[in-house]
Amino acid sequence: MITKNTTDQVDVLIIGAGPAGLMMAAWMSACGIKTRIVDKRGTKIFNGQADGLQCRTLEIFDSFGFGHRAWRDANHMLEICLWNPNSEGVIQRSDRIADTIPGISHFQQCVLHQGRIERYFLDTISKSGISVERGVMPTKMEFDESLAEEADAYPITITLRHLSEEEATPKQSATSANGAGIEDGLFRSNMAADDTEDIIRKAELNNKANTVEVVKAKYVLGADGAHSWVRNQLGFKLEGESTDYIWGVLDIIPITDFPDIRMRCAIHSASSGSVMVIPRENKLVRLYIQLTTTNAEGGQKFDRSQITPEYILASAQKIMAPYKITYRYCDWWTAYQIGQRVGTNFSTRERIFLAGDAVHTHSPKAGQGMNVSMQDVKAYNLGWKVASVVKGQSDRSILKTYQSERRRIAQDLIDFDHRFSRLFSGRPAKDVMDEEGISMAEFKSAFEKGNLFASGTAVNYGKSIIVVKEGDAAEQGDGSDVATKDKSLQISSKESLATKLTIGMRIPSFKVLNQADARPWQFQELLKSNGTWRVIVFAGNLGSPRQAEKLATIGKSLGGHESFVRRFGPKPNKNETVFEILGVHAGRRQKTTIFDFPEIFRTFDERDGWDYSKILVDDESYHEGHGHLYDNYGIDPEEGCVVVLRPDQYISYIGPVDDYESLDKFFSSFMIVQADP
Ligand SMILES: *[C@@H]1O[C@H](CO)[C@@H](O)[C@H](O)[C@H]1NC(C)=O
Ligand SMILES: *[C@@H]1O[C@H](CO)[C@@H](O)[C@H](O)[C@H]1NC(C)=O
Ligand SMILES: *[C@@H]1O[C@H](CO)[C@@H](O)[C@H](O)[C@H]1NC(C)=O
Ligand SMILES: *[C@@H]1O[C@H](CO)[C@@H](O)[C@H](O)[C@H]1NC(C)=O
Repeated sequence: MITKNTTDQVDVLIIGAGPAGLMMAAWMSACGIKTRIVDKRGTKIFNGQADGLQCRTLEIFDSFGFGHRAWRDANHMLEICLWNPNSEGVIQRSDRIADTIPGISHFQQCVLHQGRIERYFLDTISKSGISVERGVMPTKMEFDESLAEEADAYPITITLRHLSEEEATPKQSATSANGAGIEDGLFRSNMAADDTEDIIRKAELNNKANTVEVVKAKYVLGADGAHSWVRNQLGFKLEGESTDYIWGVLDIIPITDFPDIRMRCAIHSASSGSVMVIPRENKLVRLYIQLTTTNAEGGQKFDRSQITPEYILASAQKIMAPYKITYRYCDWWTAYQIGQRVGTNFSTRERIFLAGDAVHTHSPKAGQGMNVSMQDVKAYNLGWKVASVVKGQSDRSILKTYQSERRRIAQDLIDFDHRFSRLFSGRPAKDVMDEEGISMAEFKSAFEKGNLFASGTAVNYGKSIIVVKEGDAAEQGDGSDVATKDKSLQISSKESLATKLTIGMRIPSFKVLNQADARPWQFQELLKSNGTWRVIVFAGNLGSPRQAEKLATIGKSLGGHESFVRRFGPKPNKNETVFEILGVHAGRRQKTTIFDFPEIFRTFDERDGWDYSKILVDDESYHEGHGHLYDNYGIDPEEGCVVVLRPDQYISYIGPVDDYESLDKFFSSFMIVQADP
């Protein structure tokens, strides 16, 4: 064994390079934080592993600059067909619904191989020199709690072991009779035993090829899966139950006379169970079959080894009869037990965090048949907060909002999952008198509700130090107290100034034009994930002297020497932006120029001249119509408002255009002074 004597220091150490770890790495890369990311697996891309991409996930990808790649490569799903038994017990199409509720996002749900998604992330993080170190696993972790609140300390010490290629490569297909030859996902399914100890033991026996090194970190993220080593070290548990349901998943190129095979379908048969059909890229189709583990008559446990590709297909054939379905090509298959569990604690002292499956596992059909990965969205919530604290811009208090915001969402999702699972697995009711059966109307309504849930756009974070809204912070979150402590800095929002925006939700996107060059943009395209806070002044109709005056007033305050923009802005000579000040007016584009806006909206650079990118207008474009941004946000052009967006595009605050005071108090409650006024 070779022991490195040097001790490496990093700001952030990420353990696990799945969706959650990569999402965290993307933030660190975008914010220029010194980061390492390690994964015990030596190989990366596995067959199968398809992910449903929710609208919100695509919006997030877009904010990191690769949304267009995912959108182009993915299989788009436009319609869901519900199939149910008719009065003779024969399945028929009973409903069609839009797969994504029209109007909620400029993206729609689609499905894509995880390997592709991983590629985009790897390309993105490589731009700042971060790459995944594979075959590297932690074997020891020490945390000096006495240093937890010292901003610049490195309180965590982790020992990393570099494995040999053989040790790090999991077996990918079953050698037994079960589906021999076809790659399966059983080794990483939650039905597989935890192999961490095994790997460590083997590596110790064979310790010649190993290098061991010690890393000191300010922050650690455990994104190391359902069997999380980091979670076990911390002694935290997942709470919740695993149910008696096992899902079988089969990826095939189907040969079938079923007419809706390229649509997302939920098929309930009269008495043979249910199947979910997910059309994928390259003519692949994923079939999800739910199998009850307990045999209803005998009460005997279902034998798991019975689950094979043939078994899953045979079940689909029974459910889909009289239609025929078979295949010549099977790409992948797996089986897993449904368990919806959420972590009791998402971090220890806001220094060592957990994300992804390490803190929340749920069944794959929260996306109603897709493995809609909300895992990554959790890390998306965390990344910018950690970056901002590491950079010394924000106080550590904002880190508490990670657990309060995401644990709540995890619990809501689990509640929903439970209800949906029962409806999906149940036998359809024969008629209204059949109380044991499931009402198909109820199923449809749950499906529609689930669709909104699965889009990710309905997430609404509770009141906290970074979300200014009415109510009780503990009640709206996970019970912890995350409100502003300093009474003198408490402010309130005026949500009535933007009736269709909700504080705590992400800002929806509509078309808006650049004032200087008339180019239309989706508003969200302008809100890149790079760590900046956005103060958006919706100045309204500048033809009105009252609005023009309010704009001048706020511009003067924001641009002033004492302004929070300056106090909390970057240190002189630091090439960073903490705030981006955007102006969106509702006057006529052709009657306005950028010089009608105060200088803070169009900063001047000796070499580069004026900034033309921050002044926008809600007006008709030449080729892409009118976005009606003010209408869609419910903002009165004769009143306007100011909206503060967090770096993750969630709305923190809405207030009057000329209320500079509240903005100043808001940022003062958690930001750290950088420059003396
Ligand atoms: C679904 O995603 C989770 C988390 O990324 C992963 O552990 C699981 O294997 C995936 N399942 C499938 C069928 O892709
Ligand atoms: C974990 O969460 C529980 C319940 O909220 C809390 O009582 C406990 O102090 C937490 N443990 C740690 C180490 O943060
Ligand atoms: C500041 O950073 C931007 C992007 O991060 C870069 O394009 C620019 O060259 C940098 N400017 C200086 C003066 O370092
Ligand atoms: C973030 O992006 C905006 C434009 O989208 C840019 O003005 C700002 O300088 C960027 N901030 C950082 C820290 O790179």
